[in-house]
Amino acid sequence: MIMFNKYCRTFILMALTILIATACNATPNEPTDTKENVSETATPKNPDSQQNPQVDKQDDTTNKPTLPFSELQKGDTGKQVSNLQQVLIQAGYAIKNTDVYDSETVWAITDFQMQTSKEMITGIYTLKTKQLLEKVLANQLAITPGKALPWKKSELTADKKVEVSNPYEILVLVNKSHALPETFIPEDLVTPAVRFPFSEDLPKKQMRKPAAEALEKMFAAADKAGVDLFAQSGYRSFTRQQSIFAANVSKNGEEAANKYSARPGESEHQTGLTMDVTSPAVSFDLIIEFGETPEGKWIQTHASEFGFIIRYPKGKEEITKYQYEPWHLRFVGKKAAKEITDNKLTLEEYVEKLN
Ligand code: DAL
Ligand code: ZN
Repeated sequence: MIMFNKYCRTFILMALTILIATACNATPNEPTDTKENVSETATPKNPDSQQNPQVDKQDDTTNKPTLPFSELQKGDTGKQVSNLQQVLIQAGYAIKNTDVYDSETVWAITDFQMQTSKEMITGIYTLKTKQLLEKVLANQLAITPGKALPWKKSELTADKKVEVSNPYEILVLVNKSHALPETFIPEDLVTPAVRFPFSEDLPKKQMRKPAAEALEKMFAAADKAGVDLFAQSGYRSFTRQQSIFAANVSKNGEEAANKYSARPGESEHQTGLTMDVTSPAVSFDLIIEFGETPEGKWIQTHASEFGFIIRYPKGKEEITKYQYEPWHLRFVGKKAAKEITDNKLTLEEYVEKLN
């Protein structure tokens, strides 16, 4: 009996030991942790996702806002915009968190880009902007909000026009009621590597960097399609526009001149986002017949793929206040160009919808 009890106790003890060991192995701390760590670092955090409570909890406790992974621009709405605004506020921008990519957000992004990436100043939030904002959050990059582009509310000029407050915005509206400041000269002007019908190194060859890059891509595609495009006239300073307008007025009178020539301050050419294009078929002139040439037709079909619109379309003269100009291309970025072209809008109509 004593012997049985002894063996029995030993057996029970051994069985208990095995049971405890098995139970411990059944809790795989290491692999589970490793799996969680991998998914957290390898999968980008989706700010809209509620599926990873550990990530959300971490963000709550560290109060670290997450930056969107997709491009955002004026008129966009939602949680991603709100997250971006939160980061901009944390970086020191005195903007409101509205969930709407509004003029204040465009201003903050434009100012930020002017201080950090002079190459691509657009007011559009891109992955490049994301990388730079991350550096600011990590204290690897210092900025002074408003230093490059001080915040300014749109004001009325003496002759009741809106003075454009952010001339660097890629969707900037410049027309007979929205004028650029006389002093505005874009700081990112470059000469695109495209064909011109003249060889002199004139300022009118220039465009702002984002527009110049897009123009180069468009000309390369036109070349491939056997279309003989030439660039005729891009950037014009306020004073240059003053001389051109004065010359047109003395030739045709003010009312007639203002149907095809802008008053100084009211010309898109001063933004650096415009290029007049032409072709040998119309002797490099800027005339309505250009619209009927293979080059003019190719532009009508393909310009939007590169972020350009025909700014003064046929049939929209009442809205644009200018005659049809099939040669005057304005860069607005690919998203806006597609929406404007597909829906047969003018920039006036498009911008009004966004505001
Ligand atoms: N031709 C356009 C309207 C300009 O002068 O800017
Ligand atoms: Zn023009």
